Amino acid sequence: MSELNRREFARNTLGSLLSYSLLETMFRKDAFADEIKPVAIKWLADVNSLAADVRGQKIPQIEWQKQVEALFKKIEIADVLKLIDFEAITKDLKIVDNGANSLRPKFPKVEGLPTEYVFGRQVFALKKDRSVVPHGHNNMATAFLILKGDMRGRLYDRLKDEKEHILIKPTVDRTFKAGETSSISDDKDNVHWFQAMSETAFIFNIHVLEVRPGGGESTGRVYLDPNGEKIAGGLIRAKRLEHKQAHEIYG
Ligand SMILES: [Fe+2]
Repeated sequence: MSELNRREFARNTLGSLLSYSLLETMFRKDAFADEIKPVAIKWLADVNSLAADVRGQKIPQIEWQKQVEALFKKIEIADVLKLIDFEAITKDLKIVDNGANSLRPKFPKVEGLPTEYVFGRQVFALKKDRSVVPHGHNNMATAFLILKGDMRGRLYDRLKDEKEHILIKPTVDRTFKAGETSSISDDKDNVHWFQAMSETAFIFNIHVLEVRPGGGESTGRVYLDPNGEKIAGGLIRAKRLEHKQAHEIYG
């Protein structure tokens, strides 16, 4: 090969390699978007407008919980997996040995979907026996949808905050399978705790922040120990915990 031909050959090969990877990226995007059914697009747009309603305090938080759970029950899990490109976000995933991974899915950019969402979202991934540790929130409404696996889900009403403790009352303690849903808000079932019962388990979570009239309060997690002193009326005096303690006991 002459020097000139060699250079030309290198340029052409590089050129085609570049266009190949570009094409591959474009194809991946298109294939991904093409797989999204209109019913799933409508569903996600509905989830967003419902989140806007509770964020704008057009509906009470308890009403949001009812409606979002109804929406979550309506959708096929396979459609949600495509919307969040589950395959891509869990490729090469190493699930942590304590607590849960928090993956951040992106939604497809297709006609009919918002470019910005009112709610935050994440996917929790857990190994068997590991937990999204017991915690409550302030000024936040969230909903869970089990994507894969079986989980034991426990919820509690948060009845009274004390300096070192929170008085809680158990409301739910049952198995949640793929497709099942739960929600929490300032007003109902504020504390949740989900433990994986299968080899792995995955939860889709959405959260709407700043939902309380007068708002302002930090929306972060409030960790506590539900295995506390049992007091009158079926209540538990649950000690407040730090993130680290909560994961040492329940992670
Ligand atoms: Fe939470």
